[in-house]
Amino acid sequence: MQSAANQEADRPLAIIILAAGLGTRMKSGISKVLHEVCGKPMISWVTDAVRPLQAERHLVVLGNGRSQVEAVLPEGAEAVHQDQQLGTGHAVSVCEPALAGFNGDILVLYGDTPLLRAETLRGLLAAHNTGPHACTLLTVELEEPYGYGRVVRDTDGRVTGIIEEQDAGDQEKAIREVNAGVYVFAADRLWPAIAALDRDNAQGELYLTDVIGVLATASESLLAHRVKDAAEILGVNSRIDLAEAAGLMRRRLLEEHMLAGVTVDDPATTYIEAGVRIGGETLIRPMTTLTGATEIGEDCVIGPSAVLRDTSVADGAEVISSYLDGAAVGSGCRVGPYAYLRPGARLAAGSQAGTFVEIKNSSVGAGAKVPHLSYIGDAEIGPGTNIAAGNITANYDGVSKHRTVIGGGVHTGADTVFVAPVTVGDGAMTGAGSVITGDVPAGGLGIARARQRNVESYASRKLGEGKGRQDDE
Ligand code: UD1
Ligand code: MG
Repeated sequence: MQSAANQEADRPLAIIILAAGLGTRMKSGISKVLHEVCGKPMISWVTDAVRPLQAERHLVVLGNGRSQVEAVLPEGAEAVHQDQQLGTGHAVSVCEPALAGFNGDILVLYGDTPLLRAETLRGLLAAHNTGPHACTLLTVELEEPYGYGRVVRDTDGRVTGIIEEQDAGDQEKAIREVNAGVYVFAADRLWPAIAALDRDNAQGELYLTDVIGVLATASESLLAHRVKDAAEILGVNSRIDLAEAAGLMRRRLLEEHMLAGVTVDDPATTYIEAGVRIGGETLIRPMTTLTGATEIGEDCVIGPSAVLRDTSVADGAEVISSYLDGAAVGSGCRVGPYAYLRPGARLAAGSQAGTFVEIKNSSVGAGAKVPHLSYIGDAEIGPGTNIAAGNITANYDGVSKHRTVIGGGVHTGADTVFVAPVTVGDGAMTGAGSVITGDVPAGGLGIARARQRNVESYASRKLGEGKGRQDDE
């Protein structure tokens, strides 16, 4: 297939993402590139950024924890194994057999730079295509360049090499232009330069960055494509970097939502993961967290203090100070404050789950209300039904779960316990304090409690005639 990004140059494009490094400074049992930034593994941010480039080949170099990383790679990505992590240059070299005969441009980037945008990569490729160039590399000027490879130029401003932090002297450490770790190479220039690398450096590794010096020495044409947004090139080497990347990404995602018509009262306390969808005119109140496959409609109010995970909320609903996980909230519903909706809680349009209400694996019919202090599990509640305060569906007999089916237009009494399996017909009622163990017919009343008996003068006898009770101080 013809590469879209490289159409002008009419050269095929291959991509190599390096993701085999252990990331020892992460102090982690999982591969560095699997650590998540706003709910998405770092490597997936990178594979998503390169997808629009429609490269002919898409290689990912993997090492430890290979199978876990492979599981999140997109279709068409070819995993290449690097047994020992001998450096970024070595990681590229292990791709050579797979790319034998490939004679186009090779975009090399690292799996630990989640903030890179597709637009930036397009810009880099366009710059490269002004050539012929042997290599075009992405650079940026940083206020604090510590940790990054520095771009060394000669007095004419031509790039002569990259020097790593560990190998840099004071003069080189003062250079603020850094290597982003994103390069386009002409394949026929890359492989000979890779073959010329040695491990004569502070880390004893084969540095991909040394390829720049090799090419410069051979008087090959090198281009540095400098970008402005320093945040974009952030390479995550520790959990401190991870938190910084997450903070920047979070702000970027929030801005995308705001530009699309969502009001975010307080971006500083709002956490919205990648992939969450929110409709226009919705208001996100402070201290709200939206994660996973959460989808929110238009004109909703979410928060303050709402946590929604894998939850859908239809238009015009309101969710206040509540925790929702795997729930589906219908249009115009009202949830909270202090509701807990668990997986399989389904609220139909205009229904309500109020304060200290827990619902799981249950449907609440249109316009039905569960306003206070209730547990609804494995139940079906019909439309327009009102569940009074303190109702419980006793769904578990210690062995199995059973269903409670409550019809439409039912009015339950406060403190009713439904011992499942049990069915309450349409338009029925239950008496307050009832333990309902048998079905209640439509239109009937289920009442199951001891009849009240008054004992005349009991209290006054007990407490002593005329003395009354001594209240505690
Ligand atoms: C690298 C660059 C540095 C640049 C910075 C940008 C080198 C030598 N240095 O430094 O100039 O400023 O990135 O973020 O390239 N990897 C492998 N196999 C290996 C070693 C690394 O696949 O043998 C992968 C890692 O998983 C990582 C990427 O290559 O995704 C970069 O390696 P890392 O150790 O993070 O390099 P930096 O020290 O950040
Ligand atoms: Mg790095």
